[in-house]
Amino acid sequence: TILILDFGSQYSHLITRRCRELNVYAELMPCTQKIAELKWKPKGIILSGSPYSVYDKDAPRVDPAVFDYGVPVLGICYGLQEMAWNLGGKVGSSNHREFGYAQVEVKRLGKGYELADRLFKGLQDNFQVWMSHGDQISGLPENFHVIGKTTTAPFAAIAHDAKPFFGIQFHPEVTHTPKGKEIISKFVLDVCECKANWTMETFIEKEIARIREICGPKGRVIGAVSGGVDSSVAAKLMHEAIGDRFQAILVDNGVLRENEAAQVKKMLSEDLGVSLTVIDASDKFLDKLAGVEDPEQKRKIIGNTFIHVFEAEAERIEAEAEKELEEKGGEAKGKIEWLLQGTLYPDVIESISFKGPSATIKTHHNVGGLLADMKLKLIEPLRELFKDEVRALGRLLSIPAHLVNRHPFPGPGLAIRILGPITREQVKIAQQADTIYIDEIRKAGLYDQISQAFAVLLPVRAVGVMGDKRTYEQVIALRAVTTEDFMTADWFVFPTDVLRRISSRITNEVAGVNRVTYDISSKPPGTVEWL
Ligand code: XMP
Repeated sequence: TILILDFGSQYSHLITRRCRELNVYAELMPCTQKIAELKWKPKGIILSGSPYSVYDKDAPRVDPAVFDYGVPVLGICYGLQEMAWNLGGKVGSSNHREFGYAQVEVKRLGKGYELADRLFKGLQDNFQVWMSHGDQISGLPENFHVIGKTTTAPFAAIAHDAKPFFGIQFHPEVTHTPKGKEIISKFVLDVCECKANWTMETFIEKEIARIREICGPKGRVIGAVSGGVDSSVAAKLMHEAIGDRFQAILVDNGVLRENEAAQVKKMLSEDLGVSLTVIDASDKFLDKLAGVEDPEQKRKIIGNTFIHVFEAEAERIEAEAEKELEEKGGEAKGKIEWLLQGTLYPDVIESISFKGPSATIKTHHNVGGLLADMKLKLIEPLRELFKDEVRALGRLLSIPAHLVNRHPFPGPGLAIRILGPITREQVKIAQQADTIYIDEIRKAGLYDQISQAFAVLLPVRAVGVMGDKRTYEQVIALRAVTTEDFMTADWFVFPTDVLRRISSRITNEVAGVNRVTYDISSKPPGTVEWL
Protein backbone atom coordinates (compact mmCIF):
# COMPACT_ATOMS: atom_id res chain seq x y z
CA THR A 1 0.00 0.00 0.00
CA ILE A 2 1.12 3.49 -0.86
CA LEU A 3 0.21 6.56 1.17
CA ILE A 4 -0.17 9.77 -0.81
CA LEU A 5 -0.07 12.92 1.22
CA ASP A 6 -2.13 15.62 -0.42
CA PHE A 7 -0.88 19.19 -0.36
CA GLY A 8 -3.84 20.38 -2.41
CA SER A 9 -2.64 19.90 -5.97
CA GLN A 10 -5.31 19.49 -8.60
CA TYR A 11 -3.45 16.33 -9.68
CA SER A 12 -3.23 14.57 -6.28
CA HIS A 13 -6.00 12.08 -6.98
CA LEU A 14 -4.29 11.13 -10.24
CA ILE A 15 -1.29 9.84 -8.28
CA THR A 16 -3.68 7.53 -6.42
CA ARG A 17 -5.14 6.38 -9.71
CA ARG A 18 -1.79 5.64 -11.31
CA CYS A 19 -0.78 3.46 -8.33
CA ARG A 20 -4.03 1.54 -8.49
CA GLU A 21 -3.61 1.05 -12.23
CA LEU A 22 -0.46 -0.83 -11.20
CA ASN A 23 -2.70 -3.01 -9.01
CA VAL A 24 -1.26 -1.48 -5.88
CA TYR A 25 -3.70 -0.07 -3.36
CA ALA A 26 -3.07 3.61 -2.70
CA GLU A 27 -4.81 5.99 -0.38
CA LEU A 28 -4.81 9.76 -0.30
CA MET A 29 -4.68 11.55 3.02
CA PRO A 30 -4.35 15.22 3.91
CA CYS A 31 -0.74 16.38 4.26
CA THR A 32 -1.44 17.24 7.88
CA GLN A 33 -1.76 13.53 8.70
CA LYS A 34 0.49 12.66 11.65
CA ILE A 35 2.60 9.66 10.80
CA ALA A 36 2.45 8.28 14.34
CA GLU A 37 -1.35 8.20 14.08
CA LEU A 38 -1.52 6.07 10.94
CA LYS A 39 -3.64 2.98 11.41
CA TRP A 40 -1.82 1.00 8.74
CA LYS A 41 1.74 0.82 7.57
CA PRO A 42 2.33 2.00 4.00
CA LYS A 43 5.26 0.59 2.05
CA GLY A 44 5.99 3.96 0.54
CA ILE A 45 4.92 7.60 0.76
CA ILE A 46 4.36 10.08 -2.05
CA LEU A 47 4.17 13.81 -1.37
CA SER A 48 1.92 15.57 -3.88
CA GLY A 49 2.18 18.94 -5.55
CA SER A 50 0.46 22.03 -4.19
CA PRO A 51 -0.78 25.44 -5.23
CA TYR A 52 1.31 26.90 -2.37
CA SER A 53 4.91 28.03 -2.22
CA VAL A 54 6.95 26.63 0.68
CA TYR A 55 7.52 30.28 1.59
CA ASP A 56 3.85 31.04 2.10
CA LYS A 57 2.99 31.78 5.72
CA ASP A 58 0.13 29.30 5.64
CA ALA A 59 1.94 26.76 3.45
CA PRO A 60 0.93 23.18 4.28
CA ARG A 61 3.70 21.33 6.15
CA VAL A 62 4.50 17.66 6.14
CA ASP A 63 5.02 15.81 9.41
CA PRO A 64 8.86 15.55 9.46
CA ALA A 65 8.43 12.03 10.87
CA VAL A 66 7.84 11.00 7.24
CA PHE A 67 11.61 11.07 6.76
CA ASP A 68 12.31 8.89 9.80
CA TYR A 69 9.59 6.35 9.11
CA GLY A 70 11.87 3.96 7.28
CA VAL A 71 9.94 3.71 4.01
CA PRO A 72 10.75 5.21 0.59
CA VAL A 73 9.52 8.75 -0.06
CA LEU A 74 8.86 10.37 -3.44
CA GLY A 75 8.25 14.11 -3.56
CA ILE A 76 6.48 15.48 -6.62
CA CYS A 77 6.82 19.20 -7.45
CA TYR A 78 5.89 20.92 -4.17
CA GLY A 79 6.57 17.54 -2.55
CA LEU A 80 10.15 17.77 -3.81
CA GLN A 81 10.49 21.29 -2.43
CA GLU A 82 8.96 20.28 0.87
CA MET A 83 11.39 17.38 1.07
CA ALA A 84 14.36 19.62 0.25
CA TRP A 85 13.16 22.26 2.74
CA ASN A 86 12.88 19.68 5.51
CA LEU A 87 16.21 18.05 4.82
CA GLY A 88 18.25 21.22 4.58
CA GLY A 89 18.20 22.09 0.88
CA LYS A 90 17.41 25.50 -0.61
CA VAL A 91 14.21 26.42 -2.35
CA GLY A 92 14.33 29.41 -4.65
CA SER A 93 11.20 31.48 -4.71
CA SER A 94 10.70 32.54 -8.27
CA ASN A 95 8.28 34.91 -9.89
CA HIS A 96 8.65 32.91 -13.04
CA ARG A 97 6.13 30.08 -13.35
CA GLU A 98 6.98 27.18 -15.59
CA PHE A 99 3.97 25.57 -17.14
CA GLY A 100 4.12 23.12 -20.01
CA TYR A 101 6.30 20.53 -21.66
CA ALA A 102 10.00 20.10 -20.90
CA GLN A 103 12.65 17.58 -21.79
CA VAL A 104 14.39 15.80 -18.92
CA GLU A 105 17.96 14.71 -19.40
CA VAL A 106 18.69 11.79 -17.10
CA LYS A 107 21.97 11.78 -15.17
CA ARG A 108 23.02 8.29 -14.16
CA LEU A 109 25.23 8.24 -11.08
CA GLY A 110 26.69 4.81 -11.71
CA LYS A 111 28.45 2.37 -9.43
CA GLY A 112 27.73 2.76 -5.74
CA TYR A 113 24.54 4.73 -6.45
CA GLU A 114 22.29 1.89 -7.60
CA LEU A 115 19.48 2.96 -5.27
CA ALA A 116 19.45 6.55 -6.54
CA ASP A 117 19.58 5.35 -10.14
CA ARG A 118 16.65 3.02 -9.66
CA LEU A 119 13.94 5.62 -10.32
CA PHE A 120 14.89 6.07 -13.97
CA LYS A 121 16.43 2.65 -14.55
CA GLY A 122 15.56 1.28 -17.97
CA LEU A 123 14.15 4.62 -19.16
CA GLN A 124 15.71 6.48 -22.07
CA ASP A 125 18.24 9.20 -21.31
CA ASN A 126 15.83 11.85 -22.50
CA PHE A 127 12.09 11.98 -21.99
CA GLN A 128 9.29 14.48 -22.16
CA VAL A 129 7.60 15.70 -18.98
CA TRP A 130 4.91 18.12 -17.87
CA MET A 131 5.96 20.98 -15.61
CA SER A 132 3.66 23.14 -13.55
CA HIS A 133 5.41 25.04 -10.80
CA GLY A 134 6.49 28.43 -9.45
CA ASP A 135 9.35 27.66 -7.07
CA GLN A 136 12.12 25.19 -7.66
CA ILE A 137 15.01 24.07 -5.51
CA SER A 138 18.26 25.96 -5.85
CA GLY A 139 20.51 23.95 -3.55
CA LEU A 140 20.63 20.23 -2.76
CA PRO A 141 20.07 18.85 0.73
CA GLU A 142 22.99 16.89 2.11
CA ASN A 143 23.68 13.52 0.45
CA PHE A 144 21.31 14.27 -2.43
CA HIS A 145 22.38 14.20 -6.06
CA VAL A 146 20.89 15.38 -9.31
CA ILE A 147 19.51 12.50 -11.38
CA GLY A 148 17.76 14.61 -14.01
CA LYS A 149 17.74 18.18 -15.33
CA THR A 150 16.05 20.31 -17.94
CA THR A 151 17.26 23.48 -19.61
CA THR A 152 15.43 25.60 -17.04
CA ALA A 153 15.49 23.26 -14.02
CA PRO A 154 18.96 22.08 -12.97
CA PHE A 155 17.35 20.09 -10.12
CA ALA A 156 14.49 18.53 -12.07
CA ALA A 157 15.06 15.17 -10.33
CA ILE A 158 17.10 14.38 -7.26
CA ALA A 159 17.83 11.34 -5.13
CA HIS A 160 19.52 10.53 -1.84
CA ASP A 161 22.61 8.36 -2.17
CA ALA A 162 21.81 5.95 0.68
CA LYS A 163 18.14 6.34 1.59
CA PRO A 164 15.22 5.70 -0.79
CA PHE A 165 14.30 9.40 -1.05
CA PHE A 166 13.49 10.86 -4.45
CA GLY A 167 12.19 14.19 -5.64
CA ILE A 168 10.96 15.21 -9.05
CA GLN A 169 9.98 18.68 -10.17
CA PHE A 170 7.70 17.50 -12.98
CA HIS A 171 4.36 15.69 -12.77
CA PRO A 172 4.56 11.95 -13.58
CA GLU A 173 0.87 11.46 -12.75
CA VAL A 174 -0.50 13.42 -15.74
CA THR A 175 -0.84 11.92 -19.21
CA HIS A 176 1.28 14.76 -20.62
CA THR A 177 4.27 12.95 -19.11
CA PRO A 178 4.23 9.88 -21.37
CA LYS A 179 6.73 7.93 -19.25
CA GLY A 180 5.07 9.05 -16.02
CA LYS A 181 3.36 5.79 -15.30
CA GLU A 182 6.62 3.94 -15.77
CA ILE A 183 8.36 6.26 -13.32
CA ILE A 184 5.62 5.77 -10.74
CA SER A 185 5.89 2.05 -11.32
CA LYS A 186 9.66 2.18 -10.71
CA PHE A 187 9.01 3.87 -7.40
CA VAL A 188 6.05 1.77 -6.30
CA LEU A 189 7.08 -1.67 -7.55
CA ASP A 190 10.88 -1.53 -7.64
CA VAL A 191 11.80 0.89 -4.87
CA CYS A 192 8.93 0.26 -2.41
CA GLU A 193 8.64 -3.38 -3.50
CA CYS A 194 4.84 -3.30 -3.37
CA LYS A 195 3.11 -6.41 -4.71
CA ALA A 196 0.76 -5.83 -7.63
CA ASN A 197 -2.10 -7.79 -6.12
CA TRP A 198 -4.89 -5.29 -5.67
CA THR A 199 -7.53 -6.35 -8.21
CA MET A 200 -11.28 -5.97 -8.48
CA GLU A 201 -11.74 -9.70 -7.84
CA THR A 202 -9.96 -9.44 -4.50
CA PHE A 203 -11.86 -6.25 -3.78
CA ILE A 204 -15.21 -8.02 -4.27
CA GLU A 205 -14.23 -10.91 -2.02
CA LYS A 206 -12.99 -8.66 0.77
CA GLU A 207 -15.89 -6.25 0.51
CA ILE A 208 -18.53 -8.97 0.62
CA ALA A 209 -16.85 -10.45 3.70
CA ARG A 210 -16.68 -7.00 5.28
CA ILE A 211 -20.36 -6.28 4.59
CA ARG A 212 -21.37 -9.63 6.10
CA GLU A 213 -19.33 -8.94 9.17
CA ILE A 214 -20.69 -5.42 9.63
CA CYS A 215 -24.32 -6.48 9.19
CA GLY A 216 -24.09 -9.64 11.28
CA PRO A 217 -26.40 -12.60 10.67
CA LYS A 218 -29.65 -10.60 10.80
CA GLY A 219 -28.88 -6.94 10.10
CA ARG A 220 -30.94 -5.37 7.35
CA VAL A 221 -29.98 -2.62 4.93
CA ILE A 222 -31.97 -0.30 2.73
CA GLY A 223 -30.70 1.92 -0.03
CA ALA A 224 -31.98 4.17 -2.75
CA VAL A 225 -31.22 3.30 -6.35
CA SER A 226 -31.41 5.76 -9.19
CA GLY A 227 -30.72 3.71 -12.29
CA GLY A 228 -27.20 5.09 -12.35
CA VAL A 229 -24.15 2.89 -12.29
CA ASP A 230 -23.01 3.68 -8.73
CA SER A 231 -26.21 2.85 -6.91
CA SER A 232 -26.84 -0.19 -9.12
CA VAL A 233 -23.38 -1.63 -8.51
CA ALA A 234 -23.63 -0.92 -4.78
CA ALA A 235 -27.05 -2.60 -4.70
CA LYS A 236 -25.86 -5.66 -6.57
CA LEU A 237 -22.87 -5.98 -4.26
CA MET A 238 -25.15 -5.80 -1.21
CA HIS A 239 -27.40 -8.41 -2.74
CA GLU A 240 -24.42 -10.72 -3.28
CA ALA A 241 -23.42 -10.20 0.34
CA ILE A 242 -26.71 -10.43 2.23
CA GLY A 243 -29.38 -11.36 -0.30
CA ASP A 244 -32.89 -10.13 0.49
CA ARG A 245 -31.83 -8.57 3.75
CA PHE A 246 -30.94 -5.71 1.43
CA GLN A 247 -33.92 -3.78 0.15
CA ALA A 248 -33.51 -1.30 -2.72
CA ILE A 249 -35.92 1.58 -3.20
CA LEU A 250 -36.44 3.55 -6.36
CA VAL A 251 -38.31 6.78 -5.86
CA ASP A 252 -39.96 8.05 -9.02
CA ASN A 253 -39.75 11.80 -8.53
CA GLY A 254 -41.58 12.68 -11.73
CA VAL A 255 -38.45 14.12 -13.34
CA LEU A 256 -36.78 10.87 -14.36
CA ARG A 257 -36.06 9.91 -17.95
CA GLU A 258 -38.88 8.49 -20.03
CA ASN A 259 -39.79 4.94 -18.82
CA GLU A 260 -36.87 5.02 -16.42
CA ALA A 261 -38.66 3.51 -13.42
CA ALA A 262 -39.91 0.57 -15.47
CA GLN A 263 -36.49 0.00 -17.01
CA VAL A 264 -34.65 0.11 -13.69
CA LYS A 265 -37.19 -2.27 -12.23
CA LYS A 266 -36.69 -4.69 -15.07
CA MET A 267 -32.94 -4.54 -14.85
CA LEU A 268 -32.38 -4.54 -11.11
CA SER A 269 -35.17 -6.66 -9.88
CA GLU A 270 -35.87 -9.02 -12.79
CA ASP A 271 -32.40 -9.39 -14.34
CA LEU A 272 -30.16 -8.97 -11.31
CA GLY A 273 -32.46 -10.36 -8.64
CA VAL A 274 -32.14 -7.38 -6.29
CA SER A 275 -35.18 -6.92 -4.09
CA LEU A 276 -36.62 -3.58 -5.27
CA THR A 277 -39.61 -1.44 -4.41
CA VAL A 278 -40.60 1.32 -6.82
CA ILE A 279 -42.48 4.21 -5.25
CA ASP A 280 -44.32 6.50 -7.60
CA ALA A 281 -44.15 9.83 -5.81
CA SER A 282 -44.18 11.92 -8.95
CA ASP A 283 -47.34 13.85 -8.05
CA LYS A 284 -45.92 14.83 -4.70
CA PHE A 285 -42.68 16.07 -6.26
CA LEU A 286 -44.28 17.87 -9.20
CA ASP A 287 -46.80 19.62 -6.92
CA LYS A 288 -43.99 20.93 -4.76
CA LEU A 289 -41.94 21.99 -7.76
CA ALA A 290 -44.80 23.91 -9.37
CA GLY A 291 -43.80 27.46 -10.17
CA VAL A 292 -40.25 27.12 -8.87
CA GLU A 293 -37.55 28.52 -11.16
CA ASP A 294 -34.48 28.84 -8.99
CA PRO A 295 -32.12 25.86 -9.53
CA GLU A 296 -30.93 25.62 -5.92
CA GLN A 297 -34.54 25.77 -4.77
CA LYS A 298 -35.38 22.93 -7.15
CA ARG A 299 -32.51 20.87 -5.76
CA LYS A 300 -33.62 21.55 -2.20
CA ILE A 301 -37.24 20.60 -2.81
CA ILE A 302 -36.26 17.39 -4.54
CA GLY A 303 -33.74 16.54 -1.83
CA ASN A 304 -36.15 17.15 1.05
CA THR A 305 -39.13 15.46 -0.56
CA PHE A 306 -36.94 12.50 -1.33
CA ILE A 307 -35.99 12.14 2.33
CA HIS A 308 -39.63 12.20 3.40
CA VAL A 309 -40.69 9.60 0.87
CA PHE A 310 -37.70 7.42 1.61
CA GLU A 311 -38.10 7.59 5.38
CA ALA A 312 -41.77 6.79 5.16
CA GLU A 313 -40.98 3.77 3.04
CA ALA A 314 -38.33 2.55 5.50
CA GLU A 315 -40.90 2.82 8.31
CA ARG A 316 -43.48 1.00 6.22
CA ILE A 317 -41.08 -1.87 5.57
CA GLU A 318 -40.34 -2.17 9.30
CA ALA A 319 -44.02 -2.07 10.21
CA GLU A 320 -44.81 -4.71 7.63
CA ALA A 321 -42.16 -7.02 9.04
CA GLU A 322 -43.57 -6.58 12.56
CA LYS A 323 -47.10 -7.26 11.37
CA GLU A 324 -45.97 -10.37 9.56
CA LEU A 325 -44.28 -11.58 12.72
CA GLU A 326 -47.44 -11.00 14.77
CA GLU A 327 -49.67 -12.72 12.27
CA LYS A 328 -47.52 -15.57 11.11
CA GLY A 329 -45.04 -15.95 13.95
CA GLY A 330 -41.69 -17.43 13.06
CA GLU A 331 -38.39 -15.74 13.43
CA ALA A 332 -38.24 -11.96 13.79
CA LYS A 333 -36.59 -10.17 10.90
CA GLY A 334 -33.69 -8.00 12.01
CA LYS A 335 -34.21 -4.25 12.29
CA ILE A 336 -33.20 -2.00 9.43
CA GLU A 337 -30.05 -0.56 10.85
CA TRP A 338 -28.08 0.42 7.81
CA LEU A 339 -28.39 2.79 4.90
CA LEU A 340 -26.50 1.95 1.73
CA GLN A 341 -24.81 4.89 0.00
CA GLY A 342 -23.00 4.76 -3.33
CA THR A 343 -20.39 7.30 -2.22
CA LEU A 344 -17.30 7.23 -4.45
CA TYR A 345 -13.72 8.07 -3.68
CA PRO A 346 -13.73 11.53 -5.31
CA ASP A 347 -16.42 12.59 -2.80
CA VAL A 348 -14.36 11.17 0.03
CA ILE A 349 -11.29 13.01 -1.22
CA GLU A 350 -13.29 16.21 -1.45
CA SER A 351 -14.43 15.90 2.14
CA ILE A 352 -11.00 15.01 3.55
CA SER A 353 -9.05 17.62 1.61
CA PHE A 354 -6.95 19.55 4.09
CA LYS A 355 -8.38 22.77 2.71
CA GLY A 356 -11.88 21.59 3.55
CA PRO A 357 -14.61 21.01 1.01
CA SER A 358 -14.33 23.37 -1.91
CA ALA A 359 -16.73 26.27 -2.27
CA THR A 360 -20.20 25.19 -3.26
CA ILE A 361 -20.96 26.07 -6.85
CA LYS A 362 -23.96 23.78 -6.90
CA THR A 363 -25.25 21.72 -4.01
CA HIS A 364 -24.53 18.31 -5.53
CA HIS A 365 -24.85 15.20 -3.45
CA ASN A 366 -27.49 16.94 -1.37
CA VAL A 367 -29.58 13.81 -1.09
CA GLY A 368 -26.71 11.75 0.28
CA GLY A 369 -25.80 14.40 2.82
CA LEU A 370 -29.34 14.75 4.09
CA LEU A 371 -30.05 11.04 4.23
CA ALA A 372 -27.06 10.64 6.49
CA ASP A 373 -29.11 12.54 9.12
CA MET A 374 -31.48 9.59 9.38
CA LYS A 375 -31.04 7.39 12.40
CA LEU A 376 -29.49 4.71 10.21
CA LYS A 377 -25.82 3.91 10.08
CA LEU A 378 -24.10 4.40 6.74
CA ILE A 379 -22.63 1.59 4.74
CA GLU A 380 -20.53 2.73 1.79
CA PRO A 381 -18.96 -0.17 -0.11
CA LEU A 382 -17.69 1.97 -3.00
CA ARG A 383 -16.02 4.69 -0.97
CA GLU A 384 -12.53 3.55 -1.96
CA LEU A 385 -13.27 3.44 -5.68
CA PHE A 386 -13.04 5.74 -8.65
CA LYS A 387 -15.80 5.74 -11.25
CA ASP A 388 -14.03 3.50 -13.73
CA GLU A 389 -13.21 1.06 -10.95
CA VAL A 390 -16.92 0.95 -10.12
CA ARG A 391 -17.60 0.17 -13.77
CA ALA A 392 -15.05 -2.66 -13.71
CA LEU A 393 -16.68 -3.93 -10.54
CA GLY A 394 -20.10 -3.79 -12.21
CA ARG A 395 -18.85 -5.84 -15.15
CA LEU A 396 -17.48 -8.47 -12.77
CA LEU A 397 -20.84 -8.57 -11.00
CA SER A 398 -22.47 -9.33 -14.38
CA ILE A 399 -24.27 -6.02 -14.63
CA PRO A 400 -25.06 -5.49 -18.34
CA ALA A 401 -22.68 -3.22 -20.27
CA HIS A 402 -25.39 -0.75 -21.28
CA LEU A 403 -25.96 0.01 -17.60
CA VAL A 404 -22.34 -0.08 -16.52
CA ASN A 405 -21.39 2.43 -19.21
CA ARG A 406 -24.33 4.70 -18.66
CA HIS A 407 -23.71 8.44 -18.55
CA PRO A 408 -24.28 9.95 -15.11
CA PHE A 409 -27.72 11.37 -14.42
CA PRO A 410 -28.12 14.01 -11.70
CA GLY A 411 -30.23 13.36 -8.61
CA PRO A 412 -32.56 16.31 -9.33
CA GLY A 413 -33.05 14.81 -12.79
CA LEU A 414 -34.79 16.74 -15.53
CA ALA A 415 -35.71 19.45 -13.03
CA ILE A 416 -32.29 21.02 -13.65
CA ARG A 417 -32.61 20.48 -17.40
CA ILE A 418 -35.90 22.30 -17.67
CA LEU A 419 -35.07 25.96 -17.36
CA GLY A 420 -37.86 28.01 -15.86
CA PRO A 421 -40.88 26.54 -14.09
CA ILE A 422 -41.55 22.81 -14.19
CA THR A 423 -44.89 21.51 -15.37
CA ARG A 424 -45.96 18.05 -16.43
CA GLU A 425 -46.06 19.29 -20.03
CA GLN A 426 -42.52 20.59 -19.82
CA VAL A 427 -41.33 17.30 -18.31
CA LYS A 428 -42.91 15.44 -21.20
CA ILE A 429 -41.16 17.62 -23.78
CA ALA A 430 -37.80 17.26 -22.03
CA GLN A 431 -38.26 13.49 -21.77
CA GLN A 432 -39.15 13.06 -25.42
CA ALA A 433 -36.24 15.18 -26.61
CA ASP A 434 -33.86 13.31 -24.28
CA THR A 435 -35.01 9.93 -25.58
CA ILE A 436 -34.54 10.89 -29.23
CA TYR A 437 -31.15 12.48 -28.55
CA ILE A 438 -29.73 9.50 -26.65
CA ASP A 439 -31.28 7.07 -29.09
CA GLU A 440 -29.61 8.74 -32.08
CA ILE A 441 -26.29 8.96 -30.23
CA ARG A 442 -26.44 5.23 -29.56
CA LYS A 443 -27.43 4.45 -33.14
CA ALA A 444 -24.46 6.48 -34.40
CA GLY A 445 -22.19 4.43 -32.13
CA LEU A 446 -21.03 7.53 -30.28
CA TYR A 447 -22.45 6.89 -26.79
CA ASP A 448 -19.25 5.56 -25.27
CA GLN A 449 -17.14 8.37 -26.72
CA ILE A 450 -19.23 10.94 -24.87
CA SER A 451 -19.02 11.35 -21.09
CA GLN A 452 -22.46 12.86 -20.71
CA ALA A 453 -25.14 13.98 -23.14
CA PHE A 454 -28.56 15.48 -22.50
CA ALA A 455 -31.20 17.82 -23.84
CA VAL A 456 -32.07 21.09 -22.10
CA LEU A 457 -35.46 22.70 -22.48
CA LEU A 458 -35.12 26.47 -22.70
CA PRO A 459 -37.78 28.79 -21.32
CA VAL A 460 -37.97 30.91 -24.45
CA ARG A 461 -40.07 30.81 -27.55
CA ALA A 462 -38.89 31.31 -31.08
CA VAL A 463 -40.72 31.85 -34.30
CA GLY A 464 -40.66 29.12 -36.89
CA VAL A 465 -42.59 27.84 -39.84
CA MET A 466 -44.12 24.40 -40.25
CA GLY A 467 -46.15 23.53 -43.29
CA ASP A 468 -47.52 26.92 -44.22
CA LYS A 469 -48.05 27.98 -40.68
CA ARG A 470 -46.11 30.28 -38.44
CA THR A 471 -45.14 28.60 -35.18
CA TYR A 472 -44.08 30.17 -31.90
CA GLU A 473 -42.58 27.39 -29.83
CA GLN A 474 -39.85 26.31 -27.50
CA VAL A 475 -36.17 25.62 -28.00
CA ILE A 476 -34.11 22.56 -27.11
CA ALA A 477 -30.40 22.94 -26.46
CA LEU A 478 -28.30 19.81 -26.88
CA ARG A 479 -25.29 19.28 -24.66
CA ALA A 480 -22.59 16.62 -25.00
CA VAL A 481 -19.27 16.73 -23.21
CA THR A 482 -16.12 14.72 -22.82
CA THR A 483 -14.30 14.82 -19.52
CA GLU A 484 -12.13 12.72 -17.23
CA ASP A 485 -13.47 13.88 -13.91
CA PHE A 486 -16.31 16.36 -14.59
CA MET A 487 -14.24 19.13 -13.01
CA THR A 488 -13.35 20.38 -16.47
CA ALA A 489 -15.03 19.37 -19.71
CA ASP A 490 -14.88 19.91 -23.47
CA TRP A 491 -17.85 19.96 -25.78
CA PHE A 492 -18.08 16.98 -28.08
CA VAL A 493 -17.60 17.43 -31.83
CA PHE A 494 -20.47 15.60 -33.56
CA PRO A 495 -20.45 14.57 -37.19
CA THR A 496 -22.82 17.02 -38.87
CA ASP A 497 -25.14 14.37 -40.24
CA VAL A 498 -25.82 13.07 -36.72
CA LEU A 499 -26.71 16.56 -35.48
CA ARG A 500 -28.92 17.06 -38.51
CA ARG A 501 -30.79 13.83 -37.82
CA ILE A 502 -31.27 14.63 -34.14
CA SER A 503 -32.51 18.13 -34.89
CA SER A 504 -34.90 16.96 -37.54
CA ARG A 505 -36.33 14.20 -35.36
CA ILE A 506 -36.80 16.47 -32.34
CA THR A 507 -38.54 19.23 -34.29
CA ASN A 508 -40.72 16.70 -36.11
CA GLU A 509 -41.58 14.39 -33.23
CA VAL A 510 -41.69 16.57 -30.14
CA ALA A 511 -44.78 18.74 -30.09
CA GLY A 512 -44.03 22.24 -28.84
CA VAL A 513 -40.43 22.49 -30.10
CA ASN A 514 -39.46 24.19 -33.33
CA ARG A 515 -35.74 24.81 -32.86
CA VAL A 516 -32.68 22.86 -31.73
CA THR A 517 -29.32 24.39 -30.85
CA TYR A 518 -26.01 22.79 -29.89
CA ASP A 519 -24.10 24.03 -26.86
CA ILE A 520 -20.43 24.71 -27.66
CA SER A 521 -19.29 25.85 -24.21
CA SER A 522 -16.54 24.14 -22.30
CA LYS A 523 -16.31 23.88 -18.51
CA PRO A 524 -15.08 26.33 -17.32
CA PRO A 525 -16.52 28.85 -17.95
CA GLY A 526 -19.74 26.86 -18.38
CA THR A 527 -20.71 23.95 -16.16
CA VAL A 528 -21.86 20.61 -17.52
CA GLU A 529 -25.51 21.16 -16.59
CA TRP A 530 -27.21 24.45 -17.43
CA LEU A 531 -28.52 24.84 -13.88
P1 XMP B 1 -21.75 20.52 -13.30
O1 XMP B 1 -23.01 21.05 -13.87
O2 XMP B 1 -21.51 20.93 -11.88
O3 XMP B 1 -21.90 18.94 -13.34
O4 XMP B 1 -20.55 20.86 -14.16
C1 XMP B 1 -20.89 18.02 -13.04
C2 XMP B 1 -21.54 16.67 -12.89
O5 XMP B 1 -22.40 16.67 -11.75
C3 XMP B 1 -23.73 16.35 -12.13
N1 XMP B 1 -24.65 17.16 -11.30
C4 XMP B 1 -25.38 16.68 -10.28
N2 XMP B 1 -25.50 15.43 -9.78
N3 XMP B 1 -27.03 16.23 -8.15
C5 XMP B 1 -26.34 15.22 -8.73
O6 XMP B 1 -26.49 14.07 -8.27
C6 XMP B 1 -26.96 17.52 -8.61
O7 XMP B 1 -27.60 18.41 -8.06
C7 XMP B 1 -26.10 17.73 -9.72
N4 XMP B 1 -25.77 18.86 -10.45
C8 XMP B 1 -24.90 18.46 -11.41
C9 XMP B 1 -23.81 16.66 -13.60
O8 XMP B 1 -24.85 15.92 -14.22
C10 XMP B 1 -22.43 16.28 -14.07
O9 XMP B 1 -22.32 14.89 -14.25
